[in-house]
Amino acid sequence: MKEFEEDVSTLKTKEKMKAIVYNKKNYPEKLVCCEIDKPVPNDNEVLIKVHAVSLNAADYRSMKMGLIPAGKIFGADIAGRVEKAGKNISLFKPGDEVMGDLASFGFGGLAEYVTAPEKALIIKPRPVSFDDAAALPIAAMTALQALRDKACIQKGQKVLIIGSSGGVGTFAVQLAKYYGAEVTGVCSSKNVQQTLSLGAHYVIDYTKEKFTKKETGMTSFWELMEIIR
Ligand SMILES: NC(=O)c1ccc[n+]([C@@H]2O[C@H](COP(=O)([O-])OP(=O)(O)OC[C@H]3O[C@@H](n4cnc5c(N)ncnc54)[C@H](OP(=O)(O)O)[C@@H]3O)[C@@H](O)[C@H]2O)c1
Repeated sequence: MKEFEEDVSTLKTKEKMKAIVYNKKNYPEKLVCCEIDKPVPNDNEVLIKVHAVSLNAADYRSMKMGLIPAGKIFGADIAGRVEKAGKNISLFKPGDEVMGDLASFGFGGLAEYVTAPEKALIIKPRPVSFDDAAALPIAAMTALQALRDKACIQKGQKVLIIGSSGGVGTFAVQLAKYYGAEVTGVCSSKNVQQTLSLGAHYVIDYTKEKFTKKETGMTSFWELMEIIR
């Protein structure tokens, strides 16, 4: 009887939330909006009220490859407000506006609430909206790491951004411009104006001009760079 009472009280107190859950078994469309238990943060996690989530390659490629998050909820890039902080959390407190990339921490952003360790998050700058913040983490960090950390971009360099109208490329064009490079984007006709509006100095429309080694018959990256000089 005691056990039964405990079960009933748990059911009564368990808070619910809406989430978009991967459910291949029961639904052919796979993603289903339903009501599930609101997550409870452990001592090393914060509970975030999700204000915005964005989808990118990490979500759809994981789904295509059958890499389904344990909680069956996709959504890596999020922005929101901390609702609760576990007792070992030192960087964030309830009310803080945060943004982050949950791809390495179980995803879960396609829900009203998600839990995350503090290393997945940073404080969202106040002037940046939740929507804009959620669009940044994976794609913008990829562009930043490629240009600043790997390529060590320098002012005055000539930079070719292949895929300048894509998720990563749109950030790469803006960052390369910010670092003072001369930027050439590569995209299709419909996105030429967009690439220019992001700050590119030149655009190669890959549907009209050849730019790869195969198409140009060139033998090296440096020869390839010659065609944009
Ligand atoms: N998104 C991320 O956060 C992320 C993170 C890590 C790594 N990556 C990797 O980065 C790469 C780009 O990802 P993304 O998300 O930015 O892709 P995306 O949003 O699909 O963009 C693809 C880009 O490539 C251009 N493109 C398509 N076909 C082309 C061709 N034949 N020649 C030249 N350009 C062509 C597209 O131009 P049009 O649209 O004008 O046709 C567009 O600018 C992928 O290899 C991805 O795996 C992405």
